Amino acid sequence: SRPLKVAVAGLGTVGGGTVKLLQANAALLAERTGRPVVITAVADRDRRDRGLSLDTYRWFDDAVAMASDADADVVVELIGGAGGVALKVCEAAIAAGRHVVTANKALIAHHGMALAAAAEAKGLTLGYEAAVAGGIPIIKSLREGLVGNHARRVYGILNGTCNYILTQMRETGREFATVLAEAQALGYAEADPSFDVDGIDTAHKLAILASVAFGCTLDFDAVHIEGIRHVAAVDIAFAQELGYRIKLLGIATQTEAGIERRVHPCMVRLDTPIAQVDGVFNAVVIDGDFVDRVVHEGRGAGERPTASAVVADIADIARGRNVPTFGVPVATLHAAPAAPMSEH
Ligand code: HSE
Repeated sequence: SRPLKVAVAGLGTVGGGTVKLLQANAALLAERTGRPVVITAVADRDRRDRGLSLDTYRWFDDAVAMASDADADVVVELIGGAGGVALKVCEAAIAAGRHVVTANKALIAHHGMALAAAAEAKGLTLGYEAAVAGGIPIIKSLREGLVGNHARRVYGILNGTCNYILTQMRETGREFATVLAEAQALGYAEADPSFDVDGIDTAHKLAILASVAFGCTLDFDAVHIEGIRHVAAVDIAFAQELGYRIKLLGIATQTEAGIERRVHPCMVRLDTPIAQVDGVFNAVVIDGDFVDRVVHEGRGAGERPTASAVVADIADIARGRNVPTFGVPVATLHAAPAAPMSEH
């Protein structure tokens, strides 16, 4: 049957990984979705050699032009940034009647409601599985597998860079700055790593998770945010002696006053599943009224895991599946008051 045509905007870590996955596992995807999934166009600002085989694709220097003009059913936005070009690419794609897939949590956290409304008005998909917890299919899990549950609480380790830093500090006693440089070299960190270490990236992801889990409007400003800059190696060592690990958690809880959303370093007891999640791994725990507790763990950043999640959204489109962006049509998300912070 007719191929699904894909245009990829941004050939950095995740873009490169997505191209590689679509090429390497093309036969598998065709078999599973019932149609070939083919890249037709790619865009980036410069044409330096990235070690990718791109010769058969149309090249665009201007990603926004690609989003409007490429021969594509889906535009995959992997440029990054909370607005700017990334936002224009998504808007242009939707205006041109194309589905959008993105790994951009900052963009979804700030513009997800407006983009979802525009996409849903045209019957298009806005896929963002890769925006939260890297390779863990947490959006699908909440929206589909756990659809029959009222969530009570959703929390987890949502930033691979911070978890890598905290793990390395514990295991080697080295200080924060040294280990951050390593996480950057591994391609885990944001272009501006203060987004990672100051908890902003975790807050982007938590704001998204909260709206999918609770059906509430996506409200980044409602998230209380505290990062890990002030955590010293000695704090981690003391916590260890007392039987705890220090983890940066994002936590969204349904309270009587509304949805409480917060990000901060937590003392986590060593005998809990989350305490054992180390390095670049993320974990998300969901407490649902019927399912009880579900724990997901997997790589939260990096080329291949994130590409895996990007391709999950592309495959849904290839199969003609279109679940509402946040689980319910965006117009029916309820405005949840930001609950005051409880004791923690
Ligand atoms: N900088 C992010 C992290 C990338 O470290 O988790 C994945 O969203």
